[in-house]
Amino acid sequence: MSKLLQTVFCGAALLALAAVPAEANADETNCDEAKVLPYTLPDPLTASDGSAVTTPEEWFAKRRPELLDLFQREMYGVMPGVDRSRLAFETLRTNPVAFDGKGTLKEVRVYFDAPNPAPKLDLLVCIPNRAEKPVPAFLILNFQGNHTTCSDPWISISDNTEANHTRGVNGEERRGYKAERYPFEMIIDRGYAFVTGFYEDIDPDFDDGRQNGVHPLFAPFEQDVPEESRAATITAWAWGLSRALDCLETIPEIDAGRVAVAGHSRLGKTALWAGANDPRFAIVISNDSGCGGAALTRRNFGETIDAITRTFPHWFCPKYNSYIGRTGELPFDQHELVALIAPRPVYIASASEDLWADPTGEFLSAYNADPVYRLLGTDGFGGAAPEPPAADTPVGAVIHYHRRTGKHNITDYDWSQYLDFADEHLPR
Ligand code: GCU
Repeated sequence: MSKLLQTVFCGAALLALAAVPAEANADETNCDEAKVLPYTLPDPLTASDGSAVTTPEEWFAKRRPELLDLFQREMYGVMPGVDRSRLAFETLRTNPVAFDGKGTLKEVRVYFDAPNPAPKLDLLVCIPNRAEKPVPAFLILNFQGNHTTCSDPWISISDNTEANHTRGVNGEERRGYKAERYPFEMIIDRGYAFVTGFYEDIDPDFDDGRQNGVHPLFAPFEQDVPEESRAATITAWAWGLSRALDCLETIPEIDAGRVAVAGHSRLGKTALWAGANDPRFAIVISNDSGCGGAALTRRNFGETIDAITRTFPHWFCPKYNSYIGRTGELPFDQHELVALIAPRPVYIASASEDLWADPTGEFLSAYNADPVYRLLGTDGFGGAAPEPPAADTPVGAVIHYHRRTGKHNITDYDWSQYLDFADEHLPR
């Protein structure tokens, strides 16, 4: 173990040890910093055979594949392959004068099992009109249907019948209902395309034993995968994001080599996992992703494996449940999920009132991914201090972090940081 890591891990453990009352329990959800139990993080630069990883070659040839495999088998499920002969993309409609003529909106359908019409993902693509060459893009899944991300009446109402929240309780359309989370104009004004799709087009968000959404397409790739490690829903959503990127590769106005994948909350977990599996994503943005996303699992603060797998059993593969009550035996922790994205830029954001997502645990993942980013020749977390920064004070370099004042949400403040970050790391 490197000196830096020893100091970080043991330092964290000792600090916690001094403060913890005897009754604290790792499996109970806890939102009291004084009840955080001691823990020791696994070292991303020590392979499972105990050998030190000291070169980028060793990281890419040995340690990275080993870690990715562990996350797949023990937590999210094995990422399936894709039958490209069954993928098809169709531009359904185009409006070249959206946003007062500043942007072009396109509705593009991704068929996952062509020529079958389903399953499919409808992408809403917005491209700035003033661009003279292909533009970088932000890609983000949304929670309630594309028509809820923007109030423009041109946008089609989602036809997804499996998801009940694309409409209100009385069946009403919810145009622009969540528009504050998706600032189309802010993004195209900065010269980026903005692409969104409804996450339940890929896989409905309930437990049906992996029968619905894209799961049937995974069968040919899962014959040798034990049941307990087969693709869970977060893997299905991440797989869908990669297919969305396949589609963006066919749109000439978009530079698909410069796509930032972003996600909020469960979709922040998904963005991290998509970025870990698919190196084509140039930047990865996790907004309030919390437990099973950026937050450290061993740190007993906020949501636990027990709580998350009880409420959302379909998000993770069945094997993950076996770690309830023994988080210390997980062969990884979430800083290593961040490390799997290295050396690509990654932004982890928290919100000060979002204790369920453990802002400090999210910060510590960013901090503890730094040694891998440094091994790969970047300035990693930029020498940021080991304590979380003050609210609304972004820190870091290629790994970036902020804790916005306020609640669990994705706001203009968050987006303006992501735009600045993209400006810096996706130079024109
Ligand atoms: C719940 C869940 C979180 C998740 C969030 C969301 O709060 O416990 O893990 O991030 O939903 O996706 O909205």
